[in-house]
Amino acid sequence: MSLYQKYILPKLLNWAMKAPALSKLRSELIPFAEGRVLEIGVGSGLNFPHYSDISQLIALEPSEELLAFAEEMSREPEFPSEMLKASAEDIPLESNTFDTVVMTWTLCSVADPISALSEIKRVIKPGGKVIFAEHGQSPDQNIRNWQKRINPVWSRVAGGCQLNREIEFLYESAGFKFKSIEKGYLEGPKFATYNYRGIATIG
Ligand SMILES: C[S@@+](CC[C@H](N)C(=O)[O-])C[C@H]1O[C@@H](n2cnc3c(N)ncnc32)[C@H](O)[C@@H]1O
Repeated sequence: MSLYQKYILPKLLNWAMKAPALSKLRSELIPFAEGRVLEIGVGSGLNFPHYSDISQLIALEPSEELLAFAEEMSREPEFPSEMLKASAEDIPLESNTFDTVVMTWTLCSVADPISALSEIKRVIKPGGKVIFAEHGQSPDQNIRNWQKRINPVWSRVAGGCQLNREIEFLYESAGFKFKSIEKGYLEGPKFATYNYRGIATIG
């Protein structure tokens, strides 16, 4: 791991993910979480203040540096919580045990998104749900071309983040159905801000 990835990137992500447009979406989406909750790629724990009525939170994150931020955020929890150093592609937890999985702006950085979504499907209880928000492929050809051009440099400086992940296609390929989905650009450069958010269930 480079010095940039260890010392600079975690601080950069913590700062960037506090953008007001993202905070607004967090405040709208996360309160739908209920019961036993697993958060995937928790980052610096910016969703924590938005959980309102859950019985337990298990948060998974591969970066030790970001986990340290998340642990700080979960100091005075209103619910039992546990942080795990792990990746979405290999979730070290039992099958059929979570009512809600939360994943926000993480699928872009996961190396194998289909394996990650299959693992998520495995750990959700029958009738459970995934609350998601992701940026991804734009519907506009001109912007898609830019996403393709910028991707190689962007992914190197942004922790492996891919600008043009096909979010709907990936969820559907893994066997999810959308209970709700909203799409559209957020504030900021269009190549990085086409956003997908909603709730997915097992089809
Ligand atoms: C842009 S940040 C988003 C963080 C957080 N979810 C949020 O909403 O602020 C992307 C996160 O994905 C995590 N990540 C990258 N690869 C992952 C993987 N294979 N499994 C789980 N998380 C991963 C990164 O460490 C980082 O915390």
